[in-house]
Amino acid sequence: MAGEFTRRGFLRTAAATAALGPVSASATQGAAATARKPDGPVVIASANGLRATARAAELIAQGVTPVDAVVAGVAIVEADPDDHSVGYGGLPNERGVVELDASVMDGPTHNSGAVAALQRVKHPAQVALRVMRRTDHALLVGAGALEFAKAHGFKEEELLTDEAREMWLKWKERHSDRDDWLPPLEPPDNGAAEIKSGGMLYTHGTINCDAVDLHGNLGGVTTTSGLSYKIPGRVGDSPIIGAGLYVDNAVGAAGSTGRGEAVIKNCGAFATVELMRQGKPPVEACLQVLKRIVAHLTDPRLKDSSGRPNFDVKMYALAKDGTFGAAAIWSGGQFAVHSAGRNRLEDTAYLYERPPKEQ
Ligand code: GLY
Repeated sequence: MAGEFTRRGFLRTAAATAALGPVSASATQGAAATARKPDGPVVIASANGLRATARAAELIAQGVTPVDAVVAGVAIVEADPDDHSVGYGGLPNERGVVELDASVMDGPTHNSGAVAALQRVKHPAQVALRVMRRTDHALLVGAGALEFAKAHGFKEEELLTDEAREMWLKWKERHSDRDDWLPPLEPPDNGAAEIKSGGMLYTHGTINCDAVDLHGNLGGVTTTSGLSYKIPGRVGDSPIIGAGLYVDNAVGAAGSTGRGEAVIKNCGAFATVELMRQGKPPVEACLQVLKRIVAHLTDPRLKDSSGRPNFDVKMYALAKDGTFGAAAIWSGGQFAVHSAGRNRLEDTAYLYERPPKEQ
C-alpha cells in the first residue's frame, strides 16, 4: 500500500533523502519519526493550525467526517482577529478590502468545492463546503460567491480589523515615494527600513488542514486571505484544487502555504499526492515538489544573491495510513500535528538553511 511503513521502505527513504543534496538531516529524521500506524485520527495543519488540529481530531473521534471536521477546525483560526493570514482580521488587498480564498476536498466522494476573492464573509471554508455539497460547481468567485453565501444564510460583515487596517495603511504610505500618501512625521518613522528589509511588504499566510480517520477516509481544507496588499481579484493557490489542496482517498491528502503563484505553476498538492502514490513517504513527496518549484524558477526577481528563491513555500502531506510530513524551502518552520492522542508542533524538513538575519 502506498505510504505504508516497512523497514525496506524506510531504508529507501533515507537513501533517496540523502540523494537530494541540500536537504537537511532533519528531513531524514522527520521521515523516520512520522512513519507509524495510526492509533486514532491523524490531523496535520500549518503551524497556525494547532487549535484546528485539536478540534478536528476531537470531532473525528465523535464520528464527524474528516472534511467536516477540518472545516470546523479551521473556523477557529478564520474567526481569530489576531491571525492576519486568514478570515476575519486577514490583511486586505491594495485597496484595503479583505478578499478570502478557500477550498475543501472530501476523500470518499472525491468531491471538492471552493470560493475565491470572497468579500465580507468570515468563514470561506464553510462556503466552499456548501459549494461542494449544494451546487454542481467546483469554484465560485467574487460577487457570485458572495451572493451564493448570502443565499445560504452566511452573514455579511466587515472583515478589516483596526489592526489590519493600520498595517495596510503603513504599507500604503511607505511602499512608494511617488504617490501622495505620506507616513506620519512623528514618532520617527522606521517603517520604510522595515519594508526595504522585506519585513512587512507582502505576506502569504494561510491555513491548510488535512485529516484521516481510522477507516482511512481523508478530508482537507485550505483557507486564506491570500497575498497581503494584492491586486484586487488576485487568486492564489488555496482555492485551486491540485495546487493548494488535493485529496485522493486511495493515497492521501496534501496542501500548501506560502507563495501561491509558485505552487499553482507546479500543481503542488496534486504532485505531492502523486509522489505518495508512487510510494514516496509524505515528507519525501513534499521535498521533491519543493525541489521542482526551485528547479522551475527562472525569474531573477524571485531569487536571492545566491540564486535561491527569495520566498518560501511549505508543503504538507498526510498518507492514508496515517504517516505524515511537511517541508519548506527554507529552514525554521513548523507544522501542527495531532496523532496518537497528542497535539503538538513539529519542525518541517527543508531544502535550505536560512541565513542568519542581517543586523
Ligand atoms: N498560499 C496563499 C496564497 O498565495 O494566496
